[in-house]
Amino acid sequence: MFSSIRARLTGFYLLLLLALFTLLGILLFFSLHRIVYRSIDAGLLVQARALAASIEPGGHDENLNFSDEVMQEYGSPHSGHFFQIRNAEGLTLKKSSSMNDVDFPIPKAGSIQRYMTVLLKGKPVRFVNFYFSPESETGAQKPVIIIQCGQVIDRELDLLHGFTAVLAGSVFLFLCVSGLAGIVLARKALEPVNTMSRTIDLISEMNLSERIDASSDPEELKRIAESFNRTLERLEKSFERQKHFVADASHELRTPLAVILAHSDVMLRKKHTVAEYEEAVTAIRDAAAMMSAIVEKLLTLARMTSDRTELKFEQVALDDIIRQGVKLLSPLAEEKAVGVELFIPESVTVRGDREALMELFVNLIDNSIKYNVAGGHVKISFRQENGYAVIEILDTGIGIASEEIEAVFDRFYRVDKARGGKAVGLGLSISREIARLHQGRIELRSKTGSGTVALIYLPLQSL
Ligand SMILES: Nc1ncnc2c1ncn2[C@@H]1O[C@H](COP(=O)(O)OP(=O)(O)O)[C@@H](O)[C@H]1O
Ligand SMILES: [Mg+2]
Repeated sequence: MFSSIRARLTGFYLLLLLALFTLLGILLFFSLHRIVYRSIDAGLLVQARALAASIEPGGHDENLNFSDEVMQEYGSPHSGHFFQIRNAEGLTLKKSSSMNDVDFPIPKAGSIQRYMTVLLKGKPVRFVNFYFSPESETGAQKPVIIIQCGQVIDRELDLLHGFTAVLAGSVFLFLCVSGLAGIVLARKALEPVNTMSRTIDLISEMNLSERIDASSDPEELKRIAESFNRTLERLEKSFERQKHFVADASHELRTPLAVILAHSDVMLRKKHTVAEYEEAVTAIRDAAAMMSAIVEKLLTLARMTSDRTELKFEQVALDDIIRQGVKLLSPLAEEKAVGVELFIPESVTVRGDREALMELFVNLIDNSIKYNVAGGHVKISFRQENGYAVIEILDTGIGIASEEIEAVFDRFYRVDKARGGKAVGLGLSISREIARLHQGRIELRSKTGSGTVALIYLPLQSL
């Protein structure tokens, strides 16, 4: 029930108000209670003193005489005023006729309770025990007598009860009104949350470009909206990339497939010479090899970019791995008459996955040979920089125009599309992914016509 912010806010607010109001009510009630009783008690004391003053000094204990006026005041049982005079032992010496056959309780010996409330004939009566020692004619003190003077207080009690009822009623009314106000306020304050959640609900992969407009929302919600918008932005970009990637991959595979279909159709239409068949089959085989290379690279890329990439990290000797790569590519280098020189110290190791690093270096050395000029050079060297192993692959090839330096890392991007052959345009994308998985990076520096430098940064310790 209290799972929503609104219910919690309102509940908390109401509890707080209830506590405050109750406290205030109790305080008010007791203050009034005190004021009322004080004024009654003061009146009673005045009456008791008046009675004491009117006791004639000459009288005996048995015949305390009061003026007619006094006796009249306390005469009728309906007057609501009573007195009873006792000696120190508690024996009644005299009492007003309003008392009839009832008595005030005898004060306990040594008791200090002066004012008390009792029920006389079903009515609440407040009385005072006034201790008094009258003077004799000679001026000597006579033994103490107790003047008990009382008064019906039902009207005062009615007033207190009435006040309590009004107080409780007002507290209840206040709570109801505040509760309603709280609910309305909380609903109003949280309305933007509902609007936001409705907008979010409407966003699907079809409209990832939609954004939450929180410009008029409170600061807290604005922050949530902003981070959600950033997430959307990332999602949208990655979704776009994915879409392009699928489109590009299909497009790349379509060319060799078209070649295969065309050759097969021509061959099947009529009989051909053996030489013609050989030519067609060779073309088909080349196209299939091309497709195979593309699919192979796509699989590697998918493996490298998936979150569950399982790389086996171990200490890998850089010079060993690069030497192997160069050896693998030596037929290509020989074919293009490109000389490859290696300057890597034997002792350097990095922590990484052997196969993945091999793929990275083969891709980059392959580029430096493939995009070199006939009779050109490749120089591979090593240096250490800020905790990184930096492998530099320098070629004297055709170079890359500065505006294309970033683009060549894109999937399927080739500067010279018409070139065909084995160029798929996935090598650098894969290499960059591998470097990233090793917490490293690849940089390209190049100038058209004079060659390219590829810099591979791999952390020396860590991982
Ligand atoms: N060393 C280099 N010199 C000149 N151009 C290069 C070099 N390396 C890469 N490129 C350009 O970048 C493109 C992308 O390279 P890459 O991703 O390895 O794909 P691929 O090698 O299949 O062409 C290449 O097609 C080429 O145009
Ligand atoms: Mg390449």
